Amino acid sequence: MDLDKRIGLSPQLTSYVVAQAEPPTPAQQRLVEATLALGGVAEMQVPHEQAVFLTLLTQAIGAKTVVEIGTFTGYSTLAFARGVGADGVVHTFDVSQDWTAVARQAWQEAGVADRVRQHLGPAAETLKSLPGDLVIDLAFIDADKVGYLGYWEALVPRIRPGGLILADNVLYAGEVVDEHPSRNGQAIREFNAHVRADDRVESVLLTLADGLTIARRLSN
Ligand SMILES: C[S@@+](CC[C@H](N)C(=O)[O-])C[C@H]1O[C@@H](n2cnc3c(N)ncnc32)[C@H](O)[C@@H]1O
Repeated sequence: MDLDKRIGLSPQLTSYVVAQAEPPTPAQQRLVEATLALGGVAEMQVPHEQAVFLTLLTQAIGAKTVVEIGTFTGYSTLAFARGVGADGVVHTFDVSQDWTAVARQAWQEAGVADRVRQHLGPAAETLKSLPGDLVIDLAFIDADKVGYLGYWEALVPRIRPGGLILADNVLYAGEVVDEHPSRNGQAIREFNAHVRADDRVESVLLTLADGLTIARRLSN
């Protein structure tokens, strides 16, 4: 067993961590506020330091084609749109008309709307509308937890060798180690086991926010 260097974050330490990331742009700040105004659902938004990380990762691998499952009000979409640059495209999928309307306004305001292709409807179906020859550089799964495994199977074959597939909330607030997890917690536990056993990728589960898996597509 290695030395356990992992620590829980106090509110003070969380603020400190957030302060080490580049601050939100005015458009990002307004989107945080518009999302908070929606009430409790706002907790679904990726935290700002995670958004900064997503932009950085997108830039680091030179991703130009990103697919995201779970738009919500568009904060992570905005992070990817910043990362792909003016000649990149982000396909983003969601079922909600209302939440994605907030997103579209934010993308306009941030000047990235022309890089975003929005798909409305259950992603298991709407994913089929992607062009058959579309090669994905980076995919992000952040929607219904029972759907993760299906999204993974739909996406992995389309990721280019060396490309990344990310999955959010893979700790599910700690339920993954509960004796009696909820249906969602159980679905995430099964998803994590599936990823771990998948020899098409190499992967690591990071304790960022609610857990973020990063998997890299191998060339097999
Ligand atoms: C955790 S939120 C996504 C948060 C977003 N990535 C962000 O940073 O703001 C999950 C989203 O998945 C969407 N969703 C739930 N079931 C879905 C489905 N079957 N197909 C597509 N989207 C779905 C919800 O409407 C919700 O907006």
